[in-house]
Amino acid sequence: MQWTLASDIDGTLTGDREALDRLREKLQVKRDSSELYLILCTGRRLDQVTSGIAEEGLPQADAVICQVGTEIYLPPLGDDMPPMEAWRARLLEQYSRSEAEGFLAGIEGLRMQPDMFNTELKTSCYVDECPDPDAAAAEIRRRAAQQGDRYLVVYSSGRDLDILPAASGKGKAIRFLIEQRGLDLGRVVVAGDTGNDIAMFDELGRGVVVANAQPELRDYAQQSASDDVYQARHEFAAGVEEGLTHFGVLAG
Ligand code: GLC
Repeated sequence: MQWTLASDIDGTLTGDREALDRLREKLQVKRDSSELYLILCTGRRLDQVTSGIAEEGLPQADAVICQVGTEIYLPPLGDDMPPMEAWRARLLEQYSRSEAEGFLAGIEGLRMQPDMFNTELKTSCYVDECPDPDAAAAEIRRRAAQQGDRYLVVYSSGRDLDILPAASGKGKAIRFLIEQRGLDLGRVVVAGDTGNDIAMFDELGRGVVVANAQPELRDYAQQSASDDVYQARHEFAAGVEEGLTHFGVLAG
């Protein structure tokens, strides 16, 4: 029986190279016997994922979700390949980048993220130098909500803020892939460490919060009070491995 693991990369898989090397070997064995479908689900760009597979010890994956759930890629991965058009077209229908940029207007201390993290479907900035970052994020959320339910505002680590199409985000992108590939929605585990990972837990239900997670995800895990949200004792890849063992995806 096949499981799907959808894992964030930075601070979830990366952070402890020895632990990642151990986990990667175990995941590969499961992939080789078709017992695991592995999705990397990240805020990174595709070329940062492919270089991570080559140089940082990231595992080979069956699908890659980039830019916080706004782009989906299936192997063979090539740095210049276009994202999956079916997903892109669906999101473009509801997203206006200029409208999203308007929600950021006049907020003191706000800085845009580098161009490579600002795309046709993702408007991203930093709020950590605003006088009150949480209040800035709340104001942006309030403005976006005035446009009905077309936008999703994702706030992570007290610093990163993304305005995405409401139909995107990491969780919805995973669900789309699972349905498109005919995978079992009942056998999915997610893994993460920050606020942009909350959407994965919300959408899929079962997952691992690594011990080094940011307060926003730890608070979420505590509030959810669900046995399906497992708070690992270990950090980084060792925490992911611990969680996968807990859920029976990996043998103890
Ligand atoms: C990643 C992305 C960044 C985003 C952050 C939080 O770091 O590169 O654009 O703001 O994740 O979602």
